Amino acid sequence: MTTIARLRDALTAADYSYAGVSALLGPTAHAALGRNETTPGLRATRGGTPLETLVRLWLLQTPVPLDKAEQALPGLVDELCAEGILERSVAEVAARVDLRPYGADDRDFWVFGDLTPGLDGGPSTVGPDHVLGISPAATSLAELTVRDRAGSALDLGTGCGVQSLHLAGHVGHVVATDVNTRALWMTRLNAELNGLELDVREGSFFEPVRGERFDLVVTNPPFVISPATGQRLVYRDSGLPGDEVVEHIVRTVPAHLNPGGTAQILANWAIRSGEPWQERLARWFPASGVDAWVVQREVLDTAAYVELWLKDAGLHGAGDYRERYDTWLSWFDEQRIEAVGFGWLNLRRHHQGGDATSSGVRLEEWRWEVEQPLGREIGAHFDRVARLRDLDDQALLASRPRLALDVVQETLGPAGAEDPSQIVLRRQTGMRRARQVDTVTSALAGAADGDLTLGQLLSAIGELLGEVDVPSRLGEVRELVGEGFLDV
Ligand SMILES: C[S@@+](CC[C@H](N)C(=O)[O-])C[C@H]1O[C@@H](n2cnc3c(N)ncnc32)[C@H](O)[C@@H]1O
Repeated sequence: MTTIARLRDALTAADYSYAGVSALLGPTAHAALGRNETTPGLRATRGGTPLETLVRLWLLQTPVPLDKAEQALPGLVDELCAEGILERSVAEVAARVDLRPYGADDRDFWVFGDLTPGLDGGPSTVGPDHVLGISPAATSLAELTVRDRAGSALDLGTGCGVQSLHLAGHVGHVVATDVNTRALWMTRLNAELNGLELDVREGSFFEPVRGERFDLVVTNPPFVISPATGQRLVYRDSGLPGDEVVEHIVRTVPAHLNPGGTAQILANWAIRSGEPWQERLARWFPASGVDAWVVQREVLDTAAYVELWLKDAGLHGAGDYRERYDTWLSWFDEQRIEAVGFGWLNLRRHHQGGDATSSGVRLEEWRWEVEQPLGREIGAHFDRVARLRDLDDQALLASRPRLALDVVQETLGPAGAEDPSQIVLRRQTGMRRARQVDTVTSALAGAADGDLTLGQLLSAIGELLGEVDVPSRLGEVRELVGEGFLDV
């Protein structure tokens, strides 16, 4: 049995699971650890059980007595030291990398990553080849990922391999790439520890998969937009200026998708003065052969952005902090960058034979809360777009619309008034979209139960409420279908 397989047994025996650790720490110490504070956790783990030893060693990053380490990891301490996972002195053992339980997709994983910097207010600088463990960005992308069964997937810039662990649950063949050999080492460890097969390859961007196509590509690339004058931290800095890394991925990825394949990218983009962000990003997509859906979730002004990433690099309070801050802002000015957008870029290649068909690109700002995980809704969005493309107006009128199950109607108006002044249809799942509609559309929504055709419904409503101009209604019906209010 390999060292890692025996490590898996030891972790299982100690119940080093998400539920086991949460129960041991309790909500207060767990929440404190989420704020990078270990003292409540240390107070909750003084008993010396194997689970307490493992939590101290890895989650609280505290050296443990050698005999306790041997008890929790029988016969493994020296081997894990040789692998570079632990280090020991005469009497104590410490962690060289982080290893934590991660509960996701109704199962428990364990994930190796680099040690968390800045615990208890300690130094938060990291080395240039630092490998992120489970980060908020990683879990966001995992929640956005379309989880349909698929034959092949590419996890570009895999880091510790977190996206690949998820992908292995629904994809036959998963390729994980990175330029950072330390990241690839951790990805291989994570695959073995979790009993999963991954095809791990070293190389930059699409170089390791030249000529290959996938059903799904996911990436949370190194997207920080900076002047690239400081030390490059490979987990966040691509080495390319501005947001070129994102543009490069968007422009290249269609050639790596099978027909019907999906690419999902989490990213930052520059918002230039005098140029709507939508116009700039729309140019990155090909004129034909794909559907794209870009959602801008957040916008930071340049100062807030610089502060965020200088703090992330542990440079807040450093001697040259002001100089770095100033240089970054000057570079933003030179580039005419007035703010930075954050969001998701989703792209689906048209199905077989659709490469000559015009691309459909939707770019929108959506800052409201959405239902997570959103992956299912993103898949459904592309299905609806493809369906609508196949339906000309005649076919749309002959379809039998059905109101989506999650739609409710809200009405607003003066108290006691007979008719509302506003009618809103609201979806309660997915993006939780709302649309203000008139009485005709409200009646259509109320009557759309899959029984009558759209044409029949519109003429019946016309008889009831006065004439309905059918052609002018079709655009709105398409929008209602596109946004998932109506199924056709
Ligand atoms: C933000 S991390 C994402 C890690 C992980 N996929 C996740 O979701 O948390 C970006 C990753 O891209 C890798 N990377 C940086 N430059 C790259 C390049 N030119 N080609 C491929 N990967 C690269 C980094 O080493 C890092 O692992």
